[in-house]
Amino acid sequence: MCGIVGYIGNKSVVDILVNGLSQLEYRGYDSAGVAVQTSSKIKVYKAEGKLENLSSVLMQHKSEFADSTMGIGHIRWATHGAPNVINAHPHTCNCGNLVIVHNGIIENYKELKVKLEAKGAKFRSQTDTEAVAHLIAYKYEETKDLTEAVRLATQELDGAYALCVMHNNEKNKLIATKRNAPLLVGVGEDEYYVASDVPAIIPYTKKAMYLNDNQIVELSRSEMKLFNSNGEPIPQKVEILPWEPVALSKMGYKHFMLKEIHEQPDVIRNILVGKLHSADSQITLDEVKLDKQTLKDLNRIQIIACGTSLHAAMIGKYIIENFCGIAVDVEASSEYIYRKTVTDKHTLVIGVSQSGETADTLTAIKQAKARGSHILIITNRPDSAMAREADSLVPVNAGIEVSVAATKSYIAQLVSFYLLALYMAEIKGSLDESVLKSLKSELTLVPQKIEQILSHKEDIQKCAQHYANTKDFIYVARGINFPTALEGALKLKEISYINATGYPAGELKHGPIAMLDESMPVLSILMKGSVYEKLLSNSEEAKARNARMIALTNSTSEKLKELFEFIIEVPDIQELLSPLIAMVPLQLIAYYIAEYLGKDVDQPRNLAKSVTVE
Ligand code: G6P
Repeated sequence: MCGIVGYIGNKSVVDILVNGLSQLEYRGYDSAGVAVQTSSKIKVYKAEGKLENLSSVLMQHKSEFADSTMGIGHIRWATHGAPNVINAHPHTCNCGNLVIVHNGIIENYKELKVKLEAKGAKFRSQTDTEAVAHLIAYKYEETKDLTEAVRLATQELDGAYALCVMHNNEKNKLIATKRNAPLLVGVGEDEYYVASDVPAIIPYTKKAMYLNDNQIVELSRSEMKLFNSNGEPIPQKVEILPWEPVALSKMGYKHFMLKEIHEQPDVIRNILVGKLHSADSQITLDEVKLDKQTLKDLNRIQIIACGTSLHAAMIGKYIIENFCGIAVDVEASSEYIYRKTVTDKHTLVIGVSQSGETADTLTAIKQAKARGSHILIITNRPDSAMAREADSLVPVNAGIEVSVAATKSYIAQLVSFYLLALYMAEIKGSLDESVLKSLKSELTLVPQKIEQILSHKEDIQKCAQHYANTKDFIYVARGINFPTALEGALKLKEISYINATGYPAGELKHGPIAMLDESMPVLSILMKGSVYEKLLSNSEEAKARNARMIALTNSTSEKLKELFEFIIEVPDIQELLSPLIAMVPLQLIAYYIAEYLGKDVDQPRNLAKSVTVE
């Protein structure tokens, strides 16, 4: 995980590094640091916690780097070693001449440490990264060539890394390299930028080169040289990034999360344009590159994802099985990659990821690709590592999501699954015309139904505040909304740290019911349809154990008032589309509880938006 930046050119470097890091805070905020080449020597500045702490440190030392035009920076999500100043990057070798920043995990760092200590290295931090700093420094002593030193050192590393390196003796040289972690170089006029992700460089240049694994780039103010792992010069592929600089603003909302929840109706409209023309015409999904016959013959799909994307995948399974009659397995990527998965060229493998960079999902799709499966990627980042592995790329176009807790990207993933499932159902002829028509026509109405929910968000806020001081929270649902219960619970856990769990309501009686008493809120996602009555009975069972019952429902039945102490009403919608509606109040409940409790809504503790380590 973590984010790295680097700059070499003629501009004042510290502002560029700090601006870049601020665009990468979604990758972690346990600590931040920069190293800059000053007229005398490289100086390192670090701070524990968020970037603003580093900015305060830098303010105090402003005069030391006023003329500096070369440096590297880092924002950390702690993996090895506590989040403190000592473990913050940049890390140095013992003489302080060499500095590095690192994103990833060096799996053999303990073995390396033993070898390096035997040579005299003195370790100061608990990080895996420090081993790399010492290792490159030793290689530099031998070779007196920084690029070669980095190349030789990386040959001894196991694991994942994106590295940016500077040395006191090389005042016009910045070296960067990567394996299984993202890295790109922005190309300006007599200047180069290094970053883990596009937003850090896009304010300065649209010209960029993505590094491939094991390539090493050597940057000076006037030149960029690219080498392969044998140290041979190779051609550079500079491309124009399809991005515009976006001023990320909360637009008057208190938090990005609340703003992103409000963006959902327009996100859906945006996705449907050009794909769903009318209830009578066929879905257009040119992004799917499987030919129609293969789609017709398809009898197995695997979907792999993590976190919120995994919950979208579970709903994807439900609707693809329901609309298309194709068997679908869903698995957490982190489980998929460490067992003997049965995948072959007859299996369509769908990877779902907001960031397109999640290490577990990326590894999983690479494994499936190696076994010959067609890889379809549903992502919010069409320029990501996963997108580059895709045979079929379905961008969800939710726009940049800043809040660590995913909201609009989840709804966008769901809409993409609906389009995909409907598209396949049309090709297979697996759904009745009338059903197809009604699904398509109601899908276009979802944005305004969500707007209706948002227009009475104060009622949801009241409900949230009423339960804000609870220790635990249970969400129950059945059928297509079981993943909604999981996602509702995940949202609450992520930003309020309340112990929230989602259950299939029928499972309550097989264990969880033992936890129920008058202190336990149980929220039933009670959408009309095939399992409504069953869920109502399960809710009665919970009420009989004195649980504090809340309903989220599109039913207007008066009977519900006897059973539930709070009822959150949502617009009516057919069952098969109901996850698109049901999720929105749950996002708001999580948001308002966390806000009421004074939590850091957009950057919750211990989390990062993009998890680039396995
Ligand atoms: C992290 C984020 C989650 C996200 C998950 C998967 O854990 O905090 O919000 O759902 O990664 O991310 P992806 O980018 O693959 O959807």
